[in-house]
Amino acid sequence: MTEYPFFFTWTAQSAVKPFELTGGQGAWFTTSDGGRWLDLGALAYQVNAGHGERRITDAITRQADELALSMANAVYPAKVELAERLLAMAGPGFSKVFFTLSGAEANENAIKIARQVTGRMKLLSRYRSYHGASMGALSLTGDWRRPPLEPGIPGVVHVHDCYCDRCPFGQELATCKRECATTIGQTLALEGARSIAAVFLEPVPGANGVLVPPDDYWPIVREACTADGALLVADEVLTGFGRTGKPFGFQHWNVVPDIITCAKGLASGYATIGAVIVHERVARHFDANVLACGLTYYAHPIACAAAVATMKVYEEDGMYDHAARLGPVLRRELDACARRLPAKSYVRSLGLLAALEVEAPADAWTRLGAELSRRKLSLHVDGKRGTAIFAPPLCIGEEELVTGMRSFADGAVAAFAGRGSKDAASGGPEP
Ligand SMILES: Cc1ncc(COP(=O)(O)O)c(C=O)c1O
Repeated sequence: MTEYPFFFTWTAQSAVKPFELTGGQGAWFTTSDGGRWLDLGALAYQVNAGHGERRITDAITRQADELALSMANAVYPAKVELAERLLAMAGPGFSKVFFTLSGAEANENAIKIARQVTGRMKLLSRYRSYHGASMGALSLTGDWRRPPLEPGIPGVVHVHDCYCDRCPFGQELATCKRECATTIGQTLALEGARSIAAVFLEPVPGANGVLVPPDDYWPIVREACTADGALLVADEVLTGFGRTGKPFGFQHWNVVPDIITCAKGLASGYATIGAVIVHERVARHFDANVLACGLTYYAHPIACAAAVATMKVYEEDGMYDHAARLGPVLRRELDACARRLPAKSYVRSLGLLAALEVEAPADAWTRLGAELSRRKLSLHVDGKRGTAIFAPPLCIGEEELVTGMRSFADGAVAAFAGRGSKDAASGGPEP
């Protein structure tokens, strides 16, 4: 047990290694022991605009002075501007925004909207997915976080993923028939035609290994949903706001979902806010029908101001283009790292979201954790699933990225070759 009077998440309390975060600047954060860490994981994938961003914190202060309290039917400039910006970012046809406090809540409300609009109850998602920790979002989630809490909400069906390096259909990308995509249309029919309200997909499954789909995956799924009448929901909580080099991840594939959910990068973690962005063809249902969704802190003024300021930072600094330009640099460095490893490995990436998957025993991953602590590199290492995931703040400089990735590569070579320490340096975050 730790001495702290609160729970730490997703862990046995006796296993946690707390660290004191004191601040940060750009792609770096600091800890109370004087440590300065290169943040190659954007903390929990949310710090797209970077640490210590005064343009956002100043906007929060101004809004707190001006108007900090509201209720659902209140209107103020930050609320209007944020909705307008989100609709413009989503593209033609999107007409309404529903605000939430988190990514999980965005998905909860997308479930409710889809059920109300279609009159159907069932939902479809994938096994290698994470959609949030509340019961509806967790029921959609396919990964290890769902089974301990089952039964979840009824009617959720899971299908296999676009995991081309280990195709669940036993195929090779060059010769496959996109079974991962066509299985969705088949499942919609097998579940009873016109019974699934919505298909929830991360454009690129993120925390589950950066499973970049083939270019025709999303168009095939879009067509299947249109044919069946199921709504297509793009869960952009992790991939949104430039993470993959486009404003939203789905925009890589020339498709238009019916609903977009987002959070994390929306205010870059400076405030707790998420959103459901709804296409006009769905939103118009609620012109005459009651929208049975609501939250006390709907469109909180301070969160809206933080999100507007964050979106302005992305725009002023051209961060989405910067992420698109640095994506190949991250890829090049990871490919170079993989070539140096003594174990079989796979690299997957899109923009500034990348995974290195290595076939290595658990102790090698423990050694990697220790190497990263020693090198003060923060990223998402998942030894159980054999992946390291990279998602640096979009403001990271090319030199910072290259230096950090080369340090990572040296640490990975040592760890996977059986060298290096097993003991994580104390006083730093669990990478
Ligand atoms: C794709 C995706 N959806 C939803 C969520 C849940 O977001 P939150 O933790 O803000 O509830 C996450 C969080 O990691 C996510 O990665």
